[in-house]
Amino acid sequence: MDDYDRRVFLKLSLPGFLGLGLALPALAAQAREAAALDGRKREGGPIEWDAFIESVANYAGRRAADDWAEEKFVRRVAAMARRLKIDDPRLEEAFAGYVNKNPDWPEFEALHHEQEFQVTLIEFEPGEAIAHHDHPQINGVICCASGDVGIQNFDFLPATDDRPMLLKQVGDLRCRAGAVSTLTSEARNIHALKANAFTQLIDVFSPPYNGERSRATRWFELGDGPYQGIPGVYECGLRAG
Ligand SMILES: [Fe+2]
Repeated sequence: MDDYDRRVFLKLSLPGFLGLGLALPALAAQAREAAALDGRKREGGPIEWDAFIESVANYAGRRAADDWAEEKFVRRVAAMARRLKIDDPRLEEAFAGYVNKNPDWPEFEALHHEQEFQVTLIEFEPGEAIAHHDHPQINGVICCASGDVGIQNFDFLPATDDRPMLLKQVGDLRCRAGAVSTLTSEARNIHALKANAFTQLIDVFSPPYNGERSRATRWFELGDGPYQGIPGVYECGLRAG
């Protein structure tokens, strides 16, 4: 547990080169992060909803500090999310209110919203999916409370005049209860999700959505196969959301 976590816890109780050559280090980094978070989970005990919200508020509120960095922020929030008590009354109440109102589309329920971040419960029926989209200017932590969901993350490759818009896959996680996926405004920001079973995700987004950021969200259509046979690289175009 790093010092900041400890304080909070105590207080609150191109061709081949463009393909796998780039994707594999990112996947390895994601695996290292998951391993590191496993370690943190073992070190820290469960935390209640109010303590989780206060700790995220503390991390998000330090955005202007010299040592604040997006990757550090999402790692810290992810570490806390993995310790969140899923049977906390606040979450149990939200889970109990589930109604599948929208066929073939997950249900979204706001759990918390303040100036620096928001927390949303997203519940998927088996087979429901959210197509490739981005989260402009936003850092995100996606915590699987229950179920089984596949999450693929992508980064843009630098634009050039002689080729189409390309995405490079940098993450491919199958998340079950307790697993966490992260994105920053600069890395892994484009993702797609598909539930393999009834799934409940707790998403933290910082800064929260507002009109401008909602309007800036883009949806992408990927080519059927890898671009020019390059593993993990896909041509993409914009599509209506
Ligand atoms: Fe998303």
